Amino acid sequence: MTTPAGATERATEHATRRATDRVVSAWPDVDAVERRLDRLVHTPPRRLPERALADYHAWYVEHTPGSRATAEEAAAYIPDGVQHNLALNDPWPLEIVRADGAHLWDTDGNRYVDFLAAGGPTVLGSNHAPVREKVTELLATCGPVTGMLHAYEVRLAKLIHDFVPSVQRFRMLGSGTEGVMAALRVARAHTGRAHVVKVGGAYHGWSDQVVYGLRLPGTGALEAAGIPADALRLTHEVPPGDLDALRDRLAANESAGGTAAVIVEPIGPESGTHLARPAFNAQVRELCDEFGALLVFDEVVTAFRLGMGGAQAYFDVRPDLTVFGKCVAGGYPAAGGLGGSQEVMAVLEGGLTAVGTRAFVGGTLSANPLSCAAGYHALLEMDRTGAPARAARAGDRLRAGLAELIDRHALPYVTYNIGSIVHLHTSGVLHLSLDDPAFADELGPRTRMLGEMSMAYSAEGMITIAGSRLYTSMAHTDAVIDDALARFGRVLAAAAAPGNGSP
Ligand SMILES: Cc1ncc(COP(=O)(O)O)c(C=O)c1O
Repeated sequence: MTTPAGATERATEHATRRATDRVVSAWPDVDAVERRLDRLVHTPPRRLPERALADYHAWYVEHTPGSRATAEEAAAYIPDGVQHNLALNDPWPLEIVRADGAHLWDTDGNRYVDFLAAGGPTVLGSNHAPVREKVTELLATCGPVTGMLHAYEVRLAKLIHDFVPSVQRFRMLGSGTEGVMAALRVARAHTGRAHVVKVGGAYHGWSDQVVYGLRLPGTGALEAAGIPADALRLTHEVPPGDLDALRDRLAANESAGGTAAVIVEPIGPESGTHLARPAFNAQVRELCDEFGALLVFDEVVTAFRLGMGGAQAYFDVRPDLTVFGKCVAGGYPAAGGLGGSQEVMAVLEGGLTAVGTRAFVGGTLSANPLSCAAGYHALLEMDRTGAPARAARAGDRLRAGLAELIDRHALPYVTYNIGSIVHLHTSGVLHLSLDDPAFADELGPRTRMLGEMSMAYSAEGMITIAGSRLYTSMAHTDAVIDDALARFGRVLAAAAAPGNGSP
């Protein structure tokens, strides 16, 4: 990768750090993971015994009355009682009142190891004081928003440019969803083409054109309630890792005006739930070049978590456009953005007085000083402390410990990690195939099992992402991970109890 023109000494420093910090210590053995996942979905679900589930439920009743009361009130005013899917929890959502480093505390005083990481952004750990102090300073001087230019916008854009050289121009937005919307619009305006290809199972936010093939590959418009079919007419899904299908789709699109963009999560759909093979991104790059489509990396999760250069530095593949979210505002709202070459991003130039072609992108609170200050200081802190590598070592330790527990208890569960992104698949629901004749019978029980496992983990003092994914941070020290492993050990031992579905 080339160093951008005008790069400062800092960029050289960053580049040196990138080269020396191997954040992802080893790419998982994709064949071995796929074999184990295949076995998992063809083994009857190994649920927790009813007795253990009753005990965990009783723990909630006894220890979380405050959360229960808040959740009951919430259900009266908020659809489903939660504003955010991440907060869904059986038997009721937990009301968190304090966050610090690797831990969360609920309103009843219970402490949890935080593997949710607010959905990804807190690679430094929660509420990292040096970032908070800078944000507080900013609030004291100009408040969170003015609508005018602020130096932090420039500093953040420049820092991202230094870390991620493919980003010559950066547009800060309010969320990853907005970043994806902007990416598709920019790609279409730049190429003059209309079709968009995504990978089945990948999540790119909730805007109309990408609520397609979510979670389970091949599901197409299944989750697209409220979205007109026409909005999805130009969106296509190809199976994860299937380069032949991608080539066929790109070829088919040629006779229908061509493909504007291929958008991928570079580590594989749903943060590697369907794991990409290491060569995949370079091969997609080649196909995009062959067919004149722009390659969009959705790095909402991976940018900065997988290293300051993101997944594109790891794979050494240069996308045309990169979507940012989460870490880009350092765990503060509002986190989103789009970056790319000066040439491609030029369609965003013009402003209110534009007379030529311009892609219309932006919003009232886009690039507010609060988000930019938080993002800028968080990224500097992550670089200074080597947070992505430290978080990844915690992920390695967690995965190794979980693998040992799974083996010790002879459970069919599957764990693997990509640095600080750790997968723990117990029910296999995310890996069911629509082509499997048993699909309809398996979906319900395996989905319920995921909820049960998630409840058990939180009753044991750990918050996970939907019971199947765990993000680690720099604050997850060896002691925190070992404590968590002891807690996971209790859940997995219960699952392996004699007579509980073992062959
Ligand atoms: C890969 C990916 N893209 C896009 C998004 C959407 O980002 P946001 O929730 O900020 O809209 C997410 C959110 O989790 C994501 O994981």
